[in-house]
Amino acid sequence: MTTLEEYLEKNADRIDKVINRYFGDVHGDLFRASAHLLLAGGKRLRPAVVILAADAVKRGSSDDLLPAALALELTHNFTLIHDDIMDGDVTRRGVPTVHTVWDEPTAILAGDVLYAQAFEFICLSDADDAAKVRATKMLARTCAEICEGQSMDMAFETRDDVSEPEYLEMVGKKTGVLYGASAAIGGILAGANPVQADALYQFGVNSGIAFQIQDDLIDLCASSEKSGKDRASDIREGKQTLIAIKAREKGIDLAPYRRDLTDAEIDDLIARLKDAGVIDEVRATAVARAAVAKEALSILPPSEEKRLLAEIADFFINRGF
Ligand code: IPE
Ligand code: IPE
Ligand code: MG
Ligand code: MG
Ligand code: MG
Repeated sequence: MTTLEEYLEKNADRIDKVINRYFGDVHGDLFRASAHLLLAGGKRLRPAVVILAADAVKRGSSDDLLPAALALELTHNFTLIHDDIMDGDVTRRGVPTVHTVWDEPTAILAGDVLYAQAFEFICLSDADDAAKVRATKMLARTCAEICEGQSMDMAFETRDDVSEPEYLEMVGKKTGVLYGASAAIGGILAGANPVQADALYQFGVNSGIAFQIQDDLIDLCASSEKSGKDRASDIREGKQTLIAIKAREKGIDLAPYRRDLTDAEIDDLIARLKDAGVIDEVRATAVARAAVAKEALSILPPSEEKRLLAEIADFFINRGF
């Protein structure tokens, strides 16, 4: 029996090879800027969800769907390049962010190139044409929703009254829908019926929300070496994460922390948040979402891939600091 860890490793190798083939030897500033983050690694979790969902619907179908798996990774990288401009971050995947190596105009365009190429690759999958139209439409709608989520994320920086439901709507859009689309697109291209496709979408959105809650915890609690990203960027930028919302409910004001912090100051803040029960409550919310995600899988027939999808939802909330 393959463990999830082994599966993800093998899958990442497979995706890395495809990425190297298409992006390993590109020329000119703009295309090198587009390839920069892609070639820096990453967990390749969205392609893994595409492939697992396809094989959960029809074993072996993912062999024809690697371009679609790549399309979801390209979409993700487009959002990351733009996100790092919005969040003012200088490190991602352990390397300098695109706008710091080049400049903001180049990074905006580099993201746009990947955004366009995602649609090209989804059309290159070897699947039924009607299924490809459904998948393409879903990817287009998903991209618009991510923009809406990112817009909410930015707008929340100037507010101090964001509620938990507003936070959940925001992360559902900025992060959840891309996992929803990954699972549903994999399923649709493998021939899923509408009920299966909807269940896969619900699985993806809910596990994606759990993933983002964990990402918010990682932002605060993990070292830069471990996460490959700027530490405590959310606190510095005044992001309305669930951590910030629950801290406010318990009378902890994060406004004084809205600046560059030392590791000692961050550790001190974590201790305060733990004492107040904030971290436990945030974690419980992520656990509950992962449970909703797994429940959505119940309509699929039993398979190795279904088991791995359920395990991925748990991995999303246990991946580490
Ligand atoms: C980071 O996603 C962006 C979020 C939605 C939080 P990942 O943690 O999957 O980043 P990579 O692809 O492994 O770098
Ligand atoms: C961004 O969330 C999600 C998207 C890229 C759409 P974050 O801003 O928390 O992601 P990281 O932490 O920078 O990866
Ligand atoms: Mg960010
Ligand atoms: Mg962001
Ligand atoms: Mg984050």
